[in-house]
Amino acid sequence: EKRLTPFEALGEETLHRLVDTFYGLVAQHPDLAPIFPNQFTEIARKQKQFLTQYLGGPSLYTEEHGHPMMRARHLPFPITPTRAKAWLSCMRMAMDKIGLQGPLRDEFYSRLFLTAEHMINTPEDEN
Ligand code: HEM
Repeated sequence: EKRLTPFEALGEETLHRLVDTFYGLVAQHPDLAPIFPNQFTEIARKQKQFLTQYLGGPSLYTEEHGHPMMRARHLPFPITPTRAKAWLSCMRMAMDKIGLQGPLRDEFYSRLFLTAEHMINTPEDEN
């Protein structure tokens, strides 16, 4: 009996819907919108690739962009504790909107929580 990866359990279609819903919320969040580009098409595409491999699916992000090095890739952007909280709150809202519940949501969110904390690179008063 082969266990499903979280990517397989979630499904590509649901993951894509989550990412699109998430960036729709980021675009409207006053703490986040200013550090993102006006167009979310490209970042949503990259995030779909990244989260696919993060959840145990094919290595789509690495194939196109190389080693993820997510903390390094975020260094050009001031990620304060407030922005990490805002990012996570948009993710929870997106999960709510698409109706993602249960252990799969909880495990996915716990990992994202740790990754988001790890991305913080700027103290609160320097943003
Ligand atoms: C890129 C913000 C956390 C995955 C970016 C960009 C910003 C950003 C501003 C660049 C957008 C551009 O292309 O101009 C944030 C903030 C976070 C956060 C404020 C709060 C902690 C995360 C987390 C993940 C993630 C937790 C993954 C689980 C990505 C990916 C990209 C990206 C895959 C595209 C990287 C590339 O250019 O190849 N993020 N991010 N981010 N972020 Fe985040």
